[in-house]
Amino acid sequence: MMISHGKYWVYNGLMLPKETHSAESLKFAEELKVQNNDIFAITYPKSGTTWMQEILPLVLNGGDLTPVQTIPNWDRVPWVEETRAALVMDNLVAPRAMVSHMPYNLMPPSFMSSKAKAIYVTRNPRDVLVSSFHFHKMANFLDDPGTFDEFLEKFLSGKVMFGKWTEHVKSWRKANLRDRILFVTYEEMVQDLRGVIRRFSSFLGQDLDEETVERVANHCCFSNMKTNIMSNYSLVPQGIMDSSKSPFLRKGVAGDWKNHFSPEQEARFVAVIQQEMAGINITFPWDQE
Ligand code: A3P
Repeated sequence: MMISHGKYWVYNGLMLPKETHSAESLKFAEELKVQNNDIFAITYPKSGTTWMQEILPLVLNGGDLTPVQTIPNWDRVPWVEETRAALVMDNLVAPRAMVSHMPYNLMPPSFMSSKAKAIYVTRNPRDVLVSSFHFHKMANFLDDPGTFDEFLEKFLSGKVMFGKWTEHVKSWRKANLRDRILFVTYEEMVQDLRGVIRRFSSFLGQDLDEETVERVANHCCFSNMKTNIMSNYSLVPQGIMDSSKSPFLRKGVAGDWKNHFSPEQEARFVAVIQQEMAGINITFPWDQE
């Protein structure tokens, strides 16, 4: 059931940008026949999706740079729920890699009964908020974020694309996927990309030698991705994404929230997130900040 709401569809209570989603695309996702060897990178928006679209093909193909240098990220590792998926799905070679911003309950039903694997990337919600705030300024298909304070309230109340951060994280943590899921944080990727690539390769059963790990990590560093036109969104017309307002690959660091939050905003933000995460037994690298 979809309801039109300005620049968004409201689908099962979730706001999705009309620019990239349609009734057909959501039906396509719902009916997707997930293969047992499919791999999904799952993210709440602004948590490292584009980074995963760069890393996964390289881990899966032994470090061959051809796809990341010739195919735009959105066609290389498509979003299951977006309109491009139906156009490019047949081009994917097995094992297929896809991304999704969906909370667990809205994944394709055949994912649940398959043996497909998922990598869930979590990022410090304070940095997610900051990244999203700048993204809303440059992406003309999203609502203007207003002031940082206004956007913070919107984010906390879940009146943003893909709803509340806490609901998203909890939905995937509660899903009982056992060895089908690997949890990683954006912060771990920033701190030790090589180590994370090794974890991915062993999770996905890909044997990468150290030289390949090194090549993949070098290619996927922020500065290289920023100049890769297949990954930096410069192929998107300025009317849709205006990188003169804020580049898509903006800073690529952990902790930029410290340049944006006042002490009052931080206290309010942390109180709400902590309350909503109560009872979920997870510790994050940013808990002590
Ligand atoms: P910032 O806005 O904080 O810079 P998504 O792809 O899910 O929309 O997330 C975008 C965020 O991931 C942006 O964060 C972007 O810069 C960051 N990012 C993308 N590639 C990165 C990389 N190679 N290294 C570090 N951060 C990266």
